[in-house]
Amino acid sequence: MQHDLLIVGSGITGLYAALHAKALGLSVLLISKAKLESGSTFWAQGGLAFPTSPEDIEPHIQDTLKAGRGLCDESTVRLFVEEASQHLEKLLSYGVPFEDHQTLEGGHSHPRVFHAWGDASGRAVSVTLTQVVRDQGIEVLEGAFVQSLLLSDTGRVVGVQTTEGNHVAGAVLLASGGFGQMYPVTTAPEEATGDGIALAYRAGAVLRDMEFVQFHPTVFLAGNRGLLITEAARGEGALLLNGQMERFMHQYDPLQELAPRDVVARAIDAEETKTGRVYLDLRHLGEAFVQQRFPSIYERLKSQGVDISREPVPVSPAVHYTIGGILTDTNGKTTLEGLYAAGEVASSGLHGANRLASNSLPEGLVFGVRAVEAARQDLKFEIPASRTVLETVGSKASVQQVIGAGAGINRTAETIRLALQTLPHPEPRAGSIEELEAGNLARIADTVLRGALEREESRGGHFRTDYPEPDEVRHSLFQIPPLLEPL
Ligand code: FUM
Repeated sequence: MQHDLLIVGSGITGLYAALHAKALGLSVLLISKAKLESGSTFWAQGGLAFPTSPEDIEPHIQDTLKAGRGLCDESTVRLFVEEASQHLEKLLSYGVPFEDHQTLEGGHSHPRVFHAWGDASGRAVSVTLTQVVRDQGIEVLEGAFVQSLLLSDTGRVVGVQTTEGNHVAGAVLLASGGFGQMYPVTTAPEEATGDGIALAYRAGAVLRDMEFVQFHPTVFLAGNRGLLITEAARGEGALLLNGQMERFMHQYDPLQELAPRDVVARAIDAEETKTGRVYLDLRHLGEAFVQQRFPSIYERLKSQGVDISREPVPVSPAVHYTIGGILTDTNGKTTLEGLYAAGEVASSGLHGANRLASNSLPEGLVFGVRAVEAARQDLKFEIPASRTVLETVGSKASVQQVIGAGAGINRTAETIRLALQTLPHPEPRAGSIEELEAGNLARIADTVLRGALEREESRGGHFRTDYPEPDEVRHSLFQIPPLLEPL
């Protein structure tokens, strides 16, 4: 069946873009490999950063540029901050129950992070928008894994092949999130296997800045699962203590606990090495406040035997967010005709080398809508002639092990080269969904490693202990000849 627009992914970007497409009168199919209420948006805690007044627009822009360490595209940042507030109004009109109080997070000079349901802001957005999508009768395909992009003989992307069949359309919007699952310990959910990025790369699209992977500073490690403790905890006054139970952030940045994420994550890593452990201390905030403001974290950690209102919580940095991705312009347009991308899957120029906390959910709103508007001007219906090849790797763990060792929070030429030698190669063959996901991770892990090796400097989320200073401001670009087979 043919639609105007296919949207792949059901996080904030996909849900909101689908609603916008429907409002414009487009026929849209929203495809999700899991149920709609899943993925990174569903698990987001801290919230959504919006300027709180016209006077806060410039400070929000400056905070974003500063966190991005010279690699943001300034015009993209300006456009993003200037347009963001209109989407806050829209979310309120859909019924997202934002609370009145806004919070500080790392790198923000003003409390502008909006939250809902305490520390389950993403879940509030996901559940609310999913309900509106269902109420509006938008066509949805859940549990369908997109294994290939379909291309016409002019090279235009004209649809997708899923485990449930082929779907053709006038344009395709990828809103399928990042690749946190490339790493052995991550806050990213199981779904975050870089599928959209790998599909676009196989089809010949340009990827950008793949070596920039953001580590969240405060993650409680439960086995190899990373339980996020939101930056909003530090925004409300939680403190970091080292293994000697002493504060240390003043030695790393004048903003201390509220320095941007790259600084705090590396400071914690360094203090762990020096003193054995790092803790996040919320005790002085008071039991009632902690339980009311951070109910989900309180319950989740309690089930792991830690009462965050009464004892300091051991924390470590863990992979949280994919900064690089599919190169797009400010209208979500990729380098391939017919293919759009928005949200974590894309490299829009907003985040530079280090994303400002809580800018990513609003990014999905701003650029998801812009992508839908642009796609609407460019709908073309061509016959599919080929598809991107299927690629598999036996296990995701084999990729995670190599990347975790080679391109972690600290990298050197030696660790990266070793990882490049041992990274499993994706094999061109069909397989289970898990094997295809591992194939996606392996296909793009190579770009993370090559980008990390070639970037002989340290900047934001990319830290080379053999090149600890920033050097030239430049982007990394990745492209391969299309990996296609005839239909
Ligand atoms: O700390 C957090 O709640 C995460 C926020 C973000 O990744 O933007």
